[in-house]
Amino acid sequence: MPHLFGKRIRLRAVEQSDLDIFCRWINDPEITENLLLVYPMSQVEEARWYENMLQQPPSNHVMVIDIQTEKQPDSWQAIGNCGFMNFDWRNRSAEIGIMIGEKQFWDQGYGTDATLALLKHGFETLNLHRIWLQVYSKNKRGIRAYEKAGFVHEGIYRQAHYQHGRYYDVHLMSVLRNEWQTNDQSDRDE
Ligand SMILES: CC(C)(COP(=O)(O)OP(=O)(O)OC[C@H]1O[C@@H](n2cnc3c(N)ncnc32)[C@H](O)[C@@H]1OP(=O)(O)O)[C@@H](O)C(=O)NCCC(=O)NCCS
Repeated sequence: MPHLFGKRIRLRAVEQSDLDIFCRWINDPEITENLLLVYPMSQVEEARWYENMLQQPPSNHVMVIDIQTEKQPDSWQAIGNCGFMNFDWRNRSAEIGIMIGEKQFWDQGYGTDATLALLKHGFETLNLHRIWLQVYSKNKRGIRAYEKAGFVHEGIYRQAHYQHGRYYDVHLMSVLRNEWQTNDQSDRDE
């Protein structure tokens, strides 16, 4: 798959050499605080996850979020990953997930940028009709980033997530293709 480009990020395929850094990210409790991952992850398990992912169709492959650290064309740094899952091809719907694993890059717009790149790919290349996600009510940063990318609050799974000895609501958010077409006036050849 060719790289996908956002304003300040690119999305590329995962290489085996990325697995160490992935393992570091997903063993950091601050990063996994709002992710489904609740168990420590070993390098062997991570390698198994990678092998399993390669057996999936390319549309389901996780992609690395790279940013350009210097002006040189090849100076890219991995800061996170993201991708599509739960494709429903008949209804043309899919879920997305995202993680910025390098915490020093939180709140700098990269999560929004990567989400927008996923939306563009989903609507303009994969021909999806609806792109959705789930986010915990306590993940204010995530909710704000998704709102900025155009996601609409669709509903709430009440007390659907148990963590820290209590239940949290899970927000369901989505973007429909016509909402995307209305909002995305960039790069139009008219
Ligand atoms: C959630 C995540 C993808 C967002 O990416 P990001 O690059 O940090 O987000 P952005 O910089 O694009 O946007 C964050 C917005 O939230 C705001 N924000 C941060 N903390 C906030 C809080 N406590 N309350 C309200 N808004 C908050 C930021 O100010 C920013 O909004 P602004 O641009 O209007 O100022 C990223 O932080 C991350 O991966 N976190 C860990 C894993 C995770 O939670 N993944 C998502 C699971 S659903």
